[in-house]
Amino acid sequence: MKLLSVILLTMTSLSAASAATTVQHSTFGHMPDGKAVEIYTLKSPAVELQVMTFGARVVSLDTKDRNGKMGNIALGYADFNGYLKDNKTYFGSVPGRYANRIANGKFALDGKTYQITQNDHGNALHGGKVGFADLNWTGKEIPSGVEFTLVSPDGDQGFPGKLTAHVRYTLQDNKVVIQYSATTDKPTVVNLTNHTYFNLTGDGSGTILNEELKIDSDKITPVNSTLIPTGQFAPVAGTPFDFTSAHKIGERIEANNDQLKLGHGYDHNFVLRGKMGELHPAAEVYDPASGRVLSVETTEPGMQFYSGNFLDGTFSSRAGAKYNFRNGFCLETQHFPDSPNHPNFPSTELKPGQTYHSETTWTLTARK
Ligand code: GLA
Repeated sequence: MKLLSVILLTMTSLSAASAATTVQHSTFGHMPDGKAVEIYTLKSPAVELQVMTFGARVVSLDTKDRNGKMGNIALGYADFNGYLKDNKTYFGSVPGRYANRIANGKFALDGKTYQITQNDHGNALHGGKVGFADLNWTGKEIPSGVEFTLVSPDGDQGFPGKLTAHVRYTLQDNKVVIQYSATTDKPTVVNLTNHTYFNLTGDGSGTILNEELKIDSDKITPVNSTLIPTGQFAPVAGTPFDFTSAHKIGERIEANNDQLKLGHGYDHNFVLRGKMGELHPAAEVYDPASGRVLSVETTEPGMQFYSGNFLDGTFSSRAGAKYNFRNGFCLETQHFPDSPNHPNFPSTELKPGQTYHSETTWTLTARK
């Protein structure tokens, strides 16, 4: 009897949770080959999230400011064409099969060397020339959200093994949950993330330098001039990378610091304090202008904090505002960049029979 009531209670609370989120979808545009790109709108009383099959991307994220007014905090374009024209920013996407960089696009696995297509100063960035961010995934509605699936064939961009990847976006009241999984038929490497650019004051509202950031990290993986980790770890204490207590993003960004110069600002992997494989705090951002707060938790060991240093006014927002230098920031939860070439970093290898799992949550609140 007891067990039955527990089951019934669980079922009631589950259906209550899904009742609070509505999911709708429609066609957003078409790929050059004519295939439809679907957009899914997930809506709860607190948040509205739009995601699309192209690149499994976040298109918009509307949240409440301190006065309860909804506004979009994710950079993106008014129409699908905008996404086809932009091969630079990775707005909202799920980069893969290997998010961030692999030095010279090269690594060895089980004694064999693999060459990935090079697209960033001789390195492979975000999976090479045609990564997961540029592909049209398949979408399927699930309770409170959507599941995107992509099958990347053996040899795709040079990576070994046929990889089947899934990304699930669900919305639970004021929390966006992103769950990644993948399987392979040959040993390979995987590293998936989400590349949303946030501006908590509002999409297209200008600089993010006044937003206050806290990161649960005591060290970074410093980089060389092409943003490849040196393999060392550098403590953040006493440097502009110390976000163990909240600092405005812009407070120290122009400091005389070699790593900041190499990154043209922040573009670094922070080693998170929490236990890999379990959800732990990664970052919190507070925007004094709107009151909005974004809290990020993840099962990943690292997070790339990127301060939008390559935004240069080429692309414009839905409302026509130019996306200029540092008008958005990314918090890309991940395994460390170039892990396949650093045996001292947590492994990104995936073998047949294993399942890659990763989860990141964004909790959206506001302070008075
Ligand atoms: C990641 C990289 C940056 C940049 C952006 C896309 O965040 O670390 O260097 O390439 O993607 O512009």
